Amino acid sequence: MGILRKTGALLAATAGACLWLNRDGELRETIDIVRRDVRAIQERDPAAHNMVEALTCYSGLHAIVMHRLAHLMQKQGLPVVPRIVSQVNRFITGIEIHPAAEIGEGFFIDHGAGVVIGETTEVGDNVTIYQGVTLGGTGKETGKRHPTLEDNVTIGAGAKVLGSVKVARNAKIGAGSVVIHDVPADSTVVGNPGRPVRERGRKVGAADVDWTHLPDPVADAMRSLMRRVMEMENEFKTAFPDKKEEIERVQEEGERELDKVFEYFDKGE
Ligand SMILES: CC(C)(COP(=O)(O)OP(=O)(O)OC[C@H]1O[C@@H](n2cnc3c(N)ncnc32)[C@H](O)[C@@H]1OP(=O)(O)O)[C@@H](O)C(=O)NCCC(=O)NCCS
Repeated sequence: MGILRKTGALLAATAGACLWLNRDGELRETIDIVRRDVRAIQERDPAAHNMVEALTCYSGLHAIVMHRLAHLMQKQGLPVVPRIVSQVNRFITGIEIHPAAEIGEGFFIDHGAGVVIGETTEVGDNVTIYQGVTLGGTGKETGKRHPTLEDNVTIGAGAKVLGSVKVARNAKIGAGSVVIHDVPADSTVVGNPGRPVRERGRKVGAADVDWTHLPDPVADAMRSLMRRVMEMENEFKTAFPDKKEEIERVQEEGERELDKVFEYFDKGE
C-alpha cells in the first residue's frame, strides 16, 4: 500500500511539474526539438542503425535532452534547479552544458565525453560537435563571453573555441584546433591558433594560376625606376634653365631606348 501511495505521489508530482513547465506550450515545443535531435543522429552517424539505438546508445543525445529540460526550467525562472539538472547531466554523460546556453535544432554531440558548453554560447541549427570540444570563455571577457556558432557548423574532436567569437555558417573546425578569432562562412580552420586552410572550397594560399597574366616583377621595377628618373630630369630642367635643351635631348634619346625595352617586356605579357 505504501509503495502504491508513493508511486502515485511521484506520478502526480511529475504530471504537475510537466503542466507547470508546459504553461506556455513550451514543453511540447521542446519535445518536438528533441525529436529533431534524434533524427540528426540518424542522418549524420552511419553507425546509428535505428531509433532505438539512437535513443539508448548516444550519451550526446541524453545530454542534449537533459539540457533542453534544464534550459526550459531556466527560461521559466526556476532558481538553482536548472544548474542541479545540468550537474546531474555532467555526472551521467560527462558533458557539461550551462542551462542558459541557447542551442538550436538538430544538435549532435558525437561520442560525448569531455564536452563543455558555456553560459552565453549560442548554437544555430544542425550543428555537429565531437568529444572533447570546449565552447568556452578566455577568462578575460565579461557579459557575452562564449562563442556563437551559426547553422551547419562542424567542430572536430578536442577543438577549443574560446571567447565571444563567431563561427559563421557551414564552417568546419579541425580536430585539436584552438580558435580565438572569428571564422568565415564556408571555411575550414585548423591548428593552434586556428587559421583558415580552405575558404569556399578553395585552399587558402594556393596560387591563383592565371597563366596568361603572370606577374613580372622585373618589368614593374624598371617602370617604377624610369618614372623616378624622369621626375628627377624634370626637376633638373627647372633648377638649371641654361641646361634645359641638353637635358631634353638626353630625355628624347632615353625615351627611344626605353620604348624598345618596354616593347620587349610587353611581348612577354
Ligand atoms: C579539418 C578537416 C575537417 C578536414 O577539412 P578539409 O577542408 O577537407 O581539409 P584538408 O583535409 O584538405 O586539409 C587541409 C590542410 O589542413 C591540414 N589539416 C587537416 N586537418 C587538420 C587538423 N585537425 N589539424 C591540423 N591540420 C589539419 C591538412 O594536413 C592540410 O594541410 P596541407 O594543405 O598543408 O596539406 C578534418 O581534417 C578534421 O579535422 N575533421 C575532424 C574529424 C573528427 O573530429 N573526427 C572525430 C571522430 S571520432
